Amino acid sequence: MRGRFITLEGIDGAGKSTHHVWLAEYLRTCGHQVVITREPGGTPLGEKLRSLLLADSMHLETEALLMFAARREHIAEVIEPALTRGDWVVSDRFTDASFAYQGGGRGLTWERLMQLEHWVQGELQPDITFLFDLDVTVARMRLQKTGQAPDRFEQEQQEFFERVRKAYHRRAEEWPHRFCKIDAAMTVPQIKKILEEKVTSVC
Ligand code: TYD
Repeated sequence: MRGRFITLEGIDGAGKSTHHVWLAEYLRTCGHQVVITREPGGTPLGEKLRSLLLADSMHLETEALLMFAARREHIAEVIEPALTRGDWVVSDRFTDASFAYQGGGRGLTWERLMQLEHWVQGELQPDITFLFDLDVTVARMRLQKTGQAPDRFEQEQQEFFERVRKAYHRRAEEWPHRFCKIDAAMTVPQIKKILEEKVTSVC
């Protein structure tokens, strides 16, 4: 049986990374083989592209093309083989992030992104997308508290993240059957409970 594909999304600072590893571990305790991965990245080439994307300034279309180039490699080398084997794939971000950041944040058109999406992934879509939704001001405060140097995206202004958040909401409206919106202001145990219930429903 084909495996399941789960993605975690949200603006920087919403807390999805806290739950990424935990969710994979939980699925393993349910008896699944789990591949844990991330975007941009997930393959040796993809991780090289990630380093460029997070550090070097570039034209917005170059940024989108590199995101989708890394994704093509990720799908071909990691995601498709895993799903075909029957493994579950848990990815920290996927294509919804391109619509949110390159579309909402940077202003690339939805039509252009849909062309890239169709080219790179055909009919492939996640089975469940957890959208960690949080007020932008709160998310930015959380980011600052980590004390880590901000990458190129994290250095963007409040308005950029407001647009990113709005674009995520638009994606969630377009794909209601796979999106599960999570109020990221909840406590970690409350969020874990929601994740657990939702993945159990597709086991
Ligand atoms: P992120 O998950 O925030 O990494 P970390 O938790 O290590 O900081 O992802 C890195 C950044 O990449 C994030 O700011 C969003 C951005 N991004 C895009 O702009 N488009 C995309 O398609 C993807 C996958 C990520």
